[in-house]
Amino acid sequence: MIPVGNPAIGTDFIDRENEIAMILSTLEKDSVLLIAPRRFGKTSIMRRVEKEFADNDEICVFLEVEDVNSPHRFISEIIMALIENEKIEQKTNLISAFEGGFNWFRNNIEEIGISVFKAKLRSNIEKDLKNDWMGESKQIFDIIAELDSNICFIIDEFPIAIEKMVQTDREDFLHWFRKLRQISGKLRFIVGGSVSIDRVVRDAGGVTVINDFKRVRIGGFSREVALDLIENMFEDEGWKYESSFGDKILECIGETNIPYFIAIMLSAIKEEIILKGGEMSVDLIEKIYNYRILGNEGKHYFEHYHQRLRIYYDDLEQKAAKAILRSVCNDDHYPTDLAYGIYKRETGIDNYEQFMDLLADLSNDFYIEHNNENGLNFYSKILKDWWRIYHGGI
Ligand SMILES: Nc1ncnc2c1ncn2[C@@H]1O[C@H](COP(=O)(O)OP(=O)(O)O)[C@@H](O)[C@H]1O
Ligand SMILES: [Mg+2]
Repeated sequence: MIPVGNPAIGTDFIDRENEIAMILSTLEKDSVLLIAPRRFGKTSIMRRVEKEFADNDEICVFLEVEDVNSPHRFISEIIMALIENEKIEQKTNLISAFEGGFNWFRNNIEEIGISVFKAKLRSNIEKDLKNDWMGESKQIFDIIAELDSNICFIIDEFPIAIEKMVQTDREDFLHWFRKLRQISGKLRFIVGGSVSIDRVVRDAGGVTVINDFKRVRIGGFSREVALDLIENMFEDEGWKYESSFGDKILECIGETNIPYFIAIMLSAIKEEIILKGGEMSVDLIEKIYNYRILGNEGKHYFEHYHQRLRIYYDDLEQKAAKAILRSVCNDDHYPTDLAYGIYKRETGIDNYEQFMDLLADLSNDFYIEHNNENGLNFYSKILKDWWRIYHGGI
């Protein structure tokens, strides 16, 4: 049974060979930005990449920065992760270089490894960086640049940390970080996060502060992998499998085959069977989808997509976006010119370029797909069904 919510690691991790190969080959020259909404499988992929590095005896440092809200915190997290990394200790002289260079380190060196002292070390580093994080960190990264190993940093939930920084810090930090990537040929970064980085940088230096990253979009599984996964799960549970069951499950959640949706669907089926018994059938699967997934499970999960419009889009954009999505969820191939009509009506703005920018945002944030031939469609069927129920009333 694959996990429902936590990153899939070890034997729970399925597929993604193409994405991993793409990330690893991109890293030879560039840093990587993983793009996908929450629960699409970013952290699972990042953890797998981390393992690839470990298996190849290369240095890779994983950081989760959701709670970070300032540049000095961010940099102290990096330092702590470096210090705690076994490979760094085995393969580099970083620890002794830090020891030689910084008071905060010298005073704590004997005590590393003991958690209370780690907390002390962390707070000493932070204190040191607080007044002049840019100046102080230069010395730190000069030392790191001297190492003869490459280091890959994986930074999860990066946009959340940026968003939490105060405006002036945000801009300074993004410029600093950009420069760090430019000047240190041995450092590579994989950053990812569930909120749209483009929106977060918009008022903090704009897209130029991140446009050196190569973007890797994470979508769903192939149909084949998804069906295999479903069949295996049926086998594990001792349920009779028919190919119509797999087809039905994928038909319900939509052809994008997002692993998380497969996972919640399978776990809902399991719950239904355990609680209520009953024979597996295509009708039962349909019922579980309508009542459970689009009911309790989905209500909670997808509300985030609705709220995100309020948080990240300005008032007029939000108003237009909601009105457009309301129409698109009730239709297939919604014509672009009708959507433009809605845009003009809701915003009072007659500017096609701005309208196209909004469509691009909605598409980057995985609400819709849009092209000249097909007009506007929801990116995933499950979100479309959900939207129609909860926000589709005309
Ligand atoms: N490669 C995978 N193999 C199996 N399940 C996966 C995989 N990727 C994602 N999942 C499913 O999606 C859920 C969310 O994955 P996660 O990596 O935490 O996503 P994100 O970091 O994008 O929010 C997992 O709990 C699991 O159910
Ligand atoms: Mg994650």
